Amino acid sequence: MRLGLPLLLLASITCCTAHAETGAEGWLRYARITDSSILQRYNTLPDRIVVLGDTPIDRAAATELQRGLHSMLGRNFTISRQMEDNTNAIIIANLSSLQHAFAISGDKLPSDSYTLGPKIEGSSHRFIVFGGDQRGELYGVFHLLELVGTQQLLPTKPTTESPSSPIRWVNQWDNLDGTIERGYGGRSIFFDNGHVRTDLTRVSEYGRLLASIGINGVTVNNVNSSLRTLEPDMIREFARIADQLRPWGIRMSLSVDLSSPQVVGHLPTFDPVDPTVVAWWQSKVDEIYQAIPDFGGFVIKADSEGRVGPSKYGRTPAQAANTVARALKPHGGFVLYRGFVYNNHLDWNDLKADRARAGYDNFQALDGKFESNVVIQVKHGPIDFQVREPVSPLFAALQHTSQAIELQITQEYTGQQRHMVFLVPMWKTMLDTDLRAQNRSTPVKEIVEGKSFHQPLGGFIGVANVGLDTNWLHHPMAMANLYGFGKLAWNPDLTTQQIIDTWTRLTWGNDPKVVSTIDDLQSNSWHAYEQYTGNLGIGTLTNILGYHFGPGIESAERNGWGQWFRGDDKGIGMDRTTATGTGYIGQYPPELAAKYENLATCPDDLLLFMHHVPYTHVLHDGKTVVQYVYDAHYEGAATTQTYAPRWQTLKGLVDDDRYDETLKLFTYQAGHAIVWRDAVTKWFQKESGIPDKQGRVGNYPNRIEAENMTAAGYTPVDVKPWETASNSKAAVCNQPSGCTLTTKLDKPAGTYNITVQYFDYWSGKSHFTLDLNNQPIGHWIADDTLPPARQDLHPDGETSTRITFPGITLKPGDTLTLHGVPDNTEPAPVDYIEINK
Ligand code: GCU
Repeated sequence: MRLGLPLLLLASITCCTAHAETGAEGWLRYARITDSSILQRYNTLPDRIVVLGDTPIDRAAATELQRGLHSMLGRNFTISRQMEDNTNAIIIANLSSLQHAFAISGDKLPSDSYTLGPKIEGSSHRFIVFGGDQRGELYGVFHLLELVGTQQLLPTKPTTESPSSPIRWVNQWDNLDGTIERGYGGRSIFFDNGHVRTDLTRVSEYGRLLASIGINGVTVNNVNSSLRTLEPDMIREFARIADQLRPWGIRMSLSVDLSSPQVVGHLPTFDPVDPTVVAWWQSKVDEIYQAIPDFGGFVIKADSEGRVGPSKYGRTPAQAANTVARALKPHGGFVLYRGFVYNNHLDWNDLKADRARAGYDNFQALDGKFESNVVIQVKHGPIDFQVREPVSPLFAALQHTSQAIELQITQEYTGQQRHMVFLVPMWKTMLDTDLRAQNRSTPVKEIVEGKSFHQPLGGFIGVANVGLDTNWLHHPMAMANLYGFGKLAWNPDLTTQQIIDTWTRLTWGNDPKVVSTIDDLQSNSWHAYEQYTGNLGIGTLTNILGYHFGPGIESAERNGWGQWFRGDDKGIGMDRTTATGTGYIGQYPPELAAKYENLATCPDDLLLFMHHVPYTHVLHDGKTVVQYVYDAHYEGAATTQTYAPRWQTLKGLVDDDRYDETLKLFTYQAGHAIVWRDAVTKWFQKESGIPDKQGRVGNYPNRIEAENMTAAGYTPVDVKPWETASNSKAAVCNQPSGCTLTTKLDKPAGTYNITVQYFDYWSGKSHFTLDLNNQPIGHWIADDTLPPARQDLHPDGETSTRITFPGITLKPGDTLTLHGVPDNTEPAPVDYIEINK
């Protein structure tokens, strides 16, 4: 997606005052405060920083505070390790450094907690950052910096903050070859070419960002773990990553494959109860702790999507998890055993088969059978990070087992960081869902905090997948998801508004117009995305056999993956009722089960997840299912058309580079939302045979299909799936010298926007020129790196994109000519030209 030339020209004329930024700092920009009345708020902060300890974390905390305060306040701050009487100072300490320095004890705080605030001692003004431990101290420093960065008042008396739960980890799905499974922000910061990278600067920077939001663990390799992971030479390499993360209070952990005793250890078996296997895990874990003394533990994906597991030997996940956990326990390590265990060869003809049941069916009977350092890592919904799912019923079923919720920061099914989709509202919906286990209040957040069922562990895991892209995640707006994940893991009671407001202020500045515009854009973006992709709980409707990015509606049906929605000409939706369906609903505690079972009380946004209904079923708002789908898609796509113009009102109020980058992505999203809208609505209209009451679907009077234009060299091709191109066809050019499409216009005289919808593969850079009466309107190159981060050589819903030339004066009889010159294996493919007022 590119901006038309006239627009670019306009952009450069009205340009701007703000300076360039790269996004590398994320929310840790520490922008200078220039308003003296605001600066005054921080006059009480002394210029002297005293840090009592001298560990790498103590040093990181003091240096960070010095750097941040200097940058924001413009004053110099000194760091010393000596505390003198009667001096004003910011004091960074924790229980053990305090004891060490003064042989006195401070108030005991829980681990990772801190107390922050002023303390007057005699004539000295002290501002204390007192941690329950070193990590708490670091978190206190970042909190103080955040207060200044968002221009808030400092606390007037010491106040204490504690995290919700002990496990606040991110998982990276990085492969040793440097690729990242479901990563959309470049290659791995950890690995390249089968090894840990030589230069780990970005790892340390990542650790800093994560520490600033309270994350204390990173699993650095893919859940689909390389079988080399536990080789001795790899462990030595991983230790270098752990060294980079340690000063930020972050424990490194690894994803491991349960066959490792066999593959790495050359044992004849990996049966988890076999004594040789038990001994192998023990000695392997000892070897790891020799190299990495603060190693966090293992994430285990087993018996899932082709990974082997205990089922091979008729053993249970508990037997497998416990063998590994017992080896880790003496060292303080954890096993995060994933609840994502299911059969991906389900029989789609079996109306009782249901992938959503799998988590509960595989784990419920094992409740209470896990070692105390095992945590079951449960994806928030029972399928796989779709745009809307109910919460997994497994959360309520495990009452004697620690659990962590797995949330996906990387936007696999939610626009792959080419669409802005702020996920905090979705996560809050999940965390706030009250499962009513034992007929009492048991919201998911309290279950995973370990509170509801009094479990020793618990927490939050975010699949992050940052990459080497300078700004980490590709879309400047996507970093709000990483930030928001950390904030919710620390305190799931924070509101969406609190989170986005703080992120925006830190990331883009405190200008009220900037803050309100970005807050507003982000806050509604999940809703809009759901509207133009898959609504009513049907699933995202991405091409699940492809890259999970663009529309590919029927890809979910009639295969073993079990993401079915069972649409036919009579009705749509999975019947998961206990009365007539798969019985999935019965996995919820009775009150919630009763709500979902009954059509009258089942929320509309989960309707098609729970029930099979006719297209004419009337929703609570009075619309039929099919008309709701049409309307929601038009509304959602229309919302995205407002993103770029709203963003343009911030020109000059934010730096140019990030402004341009974001504008380009918003422009792309607006176009791709139309691809989505048209694909889904056309599919529903065809399948149901019920037309859109407003006559929009399948009726595009302003479009000229490429295959209907006069072609010189261009030939028509069928697009698959059919719904992802207008009229299901595209035109492609296979002549190296280029081809043309020509059309005579009959528009009344006036000014129009001309859009060319074309396809951009990774495999080439086709050139296009659009002429009006032989005069060029614009020239562009199809050179975008749209997801997938692999080559897709097809015109379809993943490669479809557009360019718009605004303000073109037309009169009847004008001739429009599109020249396309293919490049490599990209045949300059075109879908249509649209001419709008
Ligand atoms: C999804 C995703 C996979 C991933 C899997 C998992 O299915 O598409 O790439 O491996 O989840 O969470 O294990």
